[in-house]
Amino acid sequence: MKGVILAGGLGTRLFPLTKITNKHLLPIYDRPMIYYPIQTLINAGITDIMIVTGGNNAGDFLRLLGNGKEFGLKHINYTYQEGEGGIADALSLAEYFAEDEPVCVVLGDNLIEKNIVKAVKDFKKQGEGAKILLKEVPDPERFGVAEIKNGKLAGIEEKPKYPKSSLAVIGIYLFDARVFRIVKTLKPSDRGELEITDVNNAYVKMKAMTWEMLDGWWTDAGTFESLMRAAMLVSQTGANNTK
Ligand code: DAU
Repeated sequence: MKGVILAGGLGTRLFPLTKITNKHLLPIYDRPMIYYPIQTLINAGITDIMIVTGGNNAGDFLRLLGNGKEFGLKHINYTYQEGEGGIADALSLAEYFAEDEPVCVVLGDNLIEKNIVKAVKDFKKQGEGAKILLKEVPDPERFGVAEIKNGKLAGIEEKPKYPKSSLAVIGIYLFDARVFRIVKTLKPSDRGELEITDVNNAYVKMKAMTWEMLDGWWTDAGTFESLMRAAMLVSQTGANNTK
């Protein structure tokens, strides 16, 4: 399985912090943000990794990470997203890299306390389709929200005004190679982006989507509040714990 970290976008919600650097290079406690999703993949045994960057400061990723020696990697793959076409648009750039293998996609601003070892193992057993991870949150209207009916995933709504549950779809996704075909069928949403929620709903429609609850805390870091929360959580418990 290959790993893809999406670290493009302009990070406008963090202006002026992101005026002169990429959001994923900002510090979270003692490390740059991008370190956390890299560690998430490595802890799950995924070491063939591509980082999708964008914006004006893409070169700084190379200066910071090089070939990933600090993480025990021999090589990191990089690609560049023009503009801010959305998460699914950024993912489409990894098609060539994926070479028809399944992929674990991690949003570059998502941090977890523990690991995704179990989910990756279960997905490998599942063999095809996709898997998402859910977490109960107090502010579901900020995220993709899962609707569960009789224990089954009925669908996902992106940032609904009136969420049907408090279960956020976190930014770690497992997809089989069909994902790249699905992305090509998408139309831009009202915010002008190709949405990962539309990809996930395509798998739900094909009855090929499974879900699990994530153990331990999860946060994004794309707003001032969540950026500060992420730093506090990391300082209190550490992130990417393997136990
Ligand atoms: O954090 C989890 C949430 O992430 C999910 O619950 C939502 O369903 C999903 O749509 C997403 O929501 P956000 O609106 O918070 O995503 P954001 O625009 O902040 O993008 C998240 C990451 O995706 C960002 O850190 C970098 C990457 N990205 C985003 C865009 C728009 C790209 O690489 N390229 C892009 O064009």
